[in-house]
Amino acid sequence: MNFTIAIDGPAAAGKGTISKAVAKHFGFSHLDTGLLYRAVGAKTLSGVDATEAARSLQAEDLDAPDLRTPQVAQAASKVAVLADVRQALVDFQRAFARRAGGAVLDGRDIGTVICPEAETKLFVTASAEVRAERRYLELEANGLDISRSQVLEDVIERDKRDRERSEAPLRPAQDAVQIDTSVMSIEQAIAAALRAVDAKRKG
Ligand code: DC
Repeated sequence: MNFTIAIDGPAAAGKGTISKAVAKHFGFSHLDTGLLYRAVGAKTLSGVDATEAARSLQAEDLDAPDLRTPQVAQAASKVAVLADVRQALVDFQRAFARRAGGAVLDGRDIGTVICPEAETKLFVTASAEVRAERRYLELEANGLDISRSQVLEDVIERDKRDRERSEAPLRPAQDAVQIDTSVMSIEQAIAAALRAVDAKRKG
């Protein structure tokens, strides 16, 4: 059975948590496509050319330490504007999306560019302030010394770049179900996502 669930949205909207829970619920495989761009971004920070890094990306690169830092997030957003970088990562994502047993992919362009034929598309959002607060708490829990205002600035800068780029900009697919998690608990957001997927599976 091939069934693809595309989950897009801006930074720290809750895509990761929702995607993992949805994948677990249906027994599907999950790919966090942001990790691909983070792995490429991390390589550019050590001097490797972005396109070269994308073309030679290996599975073990996704386990590199520090991929979750704000520096790597910004580097990922910067390499993500490059058409050659995006192109180098397309085949892997499409093959993953069509693997037997079902797949959940989360990112920025899954419903619009990578899998426009996905059976279910969700667009997960939240206000910039709520997203920055969640990311701040996450980074703080991981021992990072960073201020709330710096995290908010980072989130706004990254969103702007991701939305305004010409290649595969962040935007909801026409047929995406939008979920605003600003005033939802994690459980409520997961339940809303599961309802949307169930409606498509039954329909
Ligand atoms: O989801 P994330 O925060 O880990 O993503 C890091 C960056 O990677 C994000 O700012 C933009 C880029 N990205 C993208 O352009 N397309 C995707 N499908 C996933 C991430």
